[in-house]
Amino acid sequence: MTTSVLIPHLADAMVRVTEKAAIAAEALAGRGDEKAADAAAVDAMRTAFNAVDFKGRVVIGEGERDEAPMLYIGEEVGTGNGPEIDIALDPLEGTTLTAKAMANALAVLAIAPRGGLLFAPDTYMQKIAIGPGYPDGVIDLDASPAENITAMAKAKGVDVSAMTACVLDRPRHAEIIESLRGAGARIHLISDGDVAGVINTTNPATGVDLYVGSGGAPEGVLAAAALKCVGGQMQGRLIFRNDDERKRADRTGITDYDKKYDLHELASGETVFCATGVTKGGLVDGVVRNNGLIETDTLVMSSADGMVRKIKSWHRA
Ligand code: FBP
Repeated sequence: MTTSVLIPHLADAMVRVTEKAAIAAEALAGRGDEKAADAAAVDAMRTAFNAVDFKGRVVIGEGERDEAPMLYIGEEVGTGNGPEIDIALDPLEGTTLTAKAMANALAVLAIAPRGGLLFAPDTYMQKIAIGPGYPDGVIDLDASPAENITAMAKAKGVDVSAMTACVLDRPRHAEIIESLRGAGARIHLISDGDVAGVINTTNPATGVDLYVGSGGAPEGVLAAAALKCVGGQMQGRLIFRNDDERKRADRTGITDYDKKYDLHELASGETVFCATGVTKGGLVDGVVRNNGLIETDTLVMSSADGMVRKIKSWHRA
């Protein structure tokens, strides 16, 4: 059996994994305790992984072994029977969103055959991403945000004023925001959750054309895995703020600290991507508890066959 046949078949099992993590995290939504919500999601995700017949290895996880008790980088999960699979995961993408019961928190993961996902350290990453339909190379991380959005508008055949960029609302992004607004573009600011920010570029209904800015490198690999399934372009470059972060990169085998990764280097293998809503958001609905049933909403995509599905499930409480 070839990998491209095998990986989509794990999609159903992976949906169950993000569903369990989302349900566990949502139980603590709005309680102001980010750590507790994250820990609940991690615990539930790990338990769910261990029921799946595969040899899973965490490559993007909760941190290094000495700082994360569960789902640390390098941890083996699954029953040990079945295909060898690498996993990028974030059991709770949007810990603050969850603690404050705000929209758009997700439980996310991506899988690929061994070696198919960049073994990225837990640092920041500069990111730029767009959805499908543009000519190759229309965006470049090294061009200014104004140049990128102007090139996209030209390719789309519209004025820049009709373009919208999604940016994480952080002081470090002041120059990016100024550059985009200076070019005439609209900005959709988000308080957290750049995996959804990137995926939103693939859905015309969101109105978002471009995602740009820096955020977590692990989230960058997860977003790349998602884009790989639906098409689009993305570039990322790791940001190192100190020697400790450079040492983290050394341990993952990264030698070129300034490398500009493209989508197919961030996610080089066939991937399956799953995201279950914890709180209601633009991408998926959140967990809803009603009459002894728990409803979940999951986006699942596979790059091997281009499958994109929304799955509503009802679980006994
Ligand atoms: P957490 O769920 O780990 O809190 O991450 C949320 C997030 O907004 C990510 O989506 C994003 O990549 C990162 O934080 C940005 O980091 P920072 O909050 O330090 O700017």
